[in-house]
Amino acid sequence: MRNLKILWGVIALLLLALTTVGYKLVQGDVSPSEDNRIAVNLNKFERNLVLKEMRNFLVSTQGVSEAITNKDLKLAAKLASEAGMDAEKNTPGSMLAKIPLAMKTLGFDTRQKFDQLASDAVKLNDPTYSRNQLDLLMKNCIACHTSFKILEVNE
Ligand code: HEC
Repeated sequence: MRNLKILWGVIALLLLALTTVGYKLVQGDVSPSEDNRIAVNLNKFERNLVLKEMRNFLVSTQGVSEAITNKDLKLAAKLASEAGMDAEKNTPGSMLAKIPLAMKTLGFDTRQKFDQLASDAVKLNDPTYSRNQLDLLMKNCIACHTSFKILEVNE
């Protein structure tokens, strides 16, 4: 009887720990922000890394757009794939854990949309189709910037 009570106690504690870890993974490491966005708490190194990726995103978006205008879909594909999922392979796991699930989902979806644009550009060779994909992809940039910002914190 006593052992059973201890067992239930252990199970309850484990469940609590699991819920806490799960909650933290969904929530990320965040603070409220007075501009109605969610501030993600990152250290200086992590913030610089994300902002560098962002500036690369802007360079890719401009390059892909110009290549589509010039009907050079091979170049559009090359530039788009550089901004695809491959670019994510050096992202530190410790930083990913701090990013809320909703933001990660938007981020990965944006990378996948670049990959999709790259493969369709080669397959279809249709500038209007690629242009529509880029227009749609850029709504992800807007959605994320509307909801999230980065706060630099000391660790
Ligand atoms: C998953 C979220 C997310 C997506 C998707 C996203 N961004 Fe960002 N971006 C951010 C955050 C967060 C910041 C920091 C904003 C702040 O702190 O005010 C940022 C900042 C930037 C900056 C400023 C960089 C600097 O040096 O200050 C640029 C440029 C930028 N993003 C471009 C883009 C472009 C272009 C796209 C789409 C192709 C994009 N971003 C998609 C989250 C995102």
